[in-house]
Amino acid sequence: MLGNRVEYTQGSRFAIPQETFSMKPSDSLCLPGSLLKRLQGSDHVMVLTGAGMSAESGIATFRDAQTGLWAKFRPEDLATPQAFAAHPARVWSWYEARREKVRDAEPHAGHFALVELESMVPRLSVVTQNVDALHQKSGSGNVIELHGNIMRSICHLTSRAIDGEWLAKSNDCPPRSPWAQDGLARPDVVWFGEPLPAGVMEAATKAAVMCDFCFSIGTTSTVQPAASLPLLALENGASLVEINPQETPLSLHADYCLRGSAARALTAIMQQLKNL
Ligand code: APR
Repeated sequence: MLGNRVEYTQGSRFAIPQETFSMKPSDSLCLPGSLLKRLQGSDHVMVLTGAGMSAESGIATFRDAQTGLWAKFRPEDLATPQAFAAHPARVWSWYEARREKVRDAEPHAGHFALVELESMVPRLSVVTQNVDALHQKSGSGNVIELHGNIMRSICHLTSRAIDGEWLAKSNDCPPRSPWAQDGLARPDVVWFGEPLPAGVMEAATKAAVMCDFCFSIGTTSTVQPAASLPLLALENGASLVEINPQETPLSLHADYCLRGSAARALTAIMQQLKNL
């Protein structure tokens, strides 16, 4: 069983990736037939996504140099229970600003390619570290949210859900909780050092163990326990494809590395899969 608490990791185990394919902006990616055949013949596809999956929908990533949120802010000031206890208004306001962006964001071609893939294979599970619900918005049917959902709020003492109507009536920052005298509303996301929501890691682990084809898309593969899921899939016999413009600690383990954006790589995969 993988750990259940969110934390950074470093280092990787060694393996040699079989093939790496780079996409320049002008490239139309020609994928190896072996990758497409394995995907076509798979019974259960697991797709692990990270912040890079939402980048082309206009949502900032965390660790990209310059544009990443953690290039401008310190996670320990904004994404820990200690930060919320010390500066609840600052943390709430920062999440409010992010919510505004998420509210306006739309899924891109890569999200829709995954929905189409779901209709072509017996089973597809999306396991996402993203809190923006863009997979659900695009129509993916089986989404496991590892790190919660930024559009929902909970009481910071009882973890009970607080509805939008209650929040809209409040002028406090953050709004008071209806569920506990000293309780405050907080975003329903998983902060560093916190455990994942009940049942979520079990469902994600099951998908990793059961799948025979795994995508890791748009994640630095440095935050646990999410980063271990593709390795678990690999250990249980799945083919592993990484989609990311940059190399990550997972790259060495992947059967194929597609060095391009999520939208372009997934669109190319779907086009070529349909032409097989
Ligand atoms: N398509 C695919 N990948 C992309 C794209 C794109 N268009 N743009 C950027 N990327 C890649 C980057 O190269 C990087 O490897 O997406 C990755 C984004 O990494 P992070 O910002 O670190 O996001 P992630 O790995 O999902 O972070 C994990 O950390 O801060 C916490 O809880 C937060 O869920 C988050 C977790």
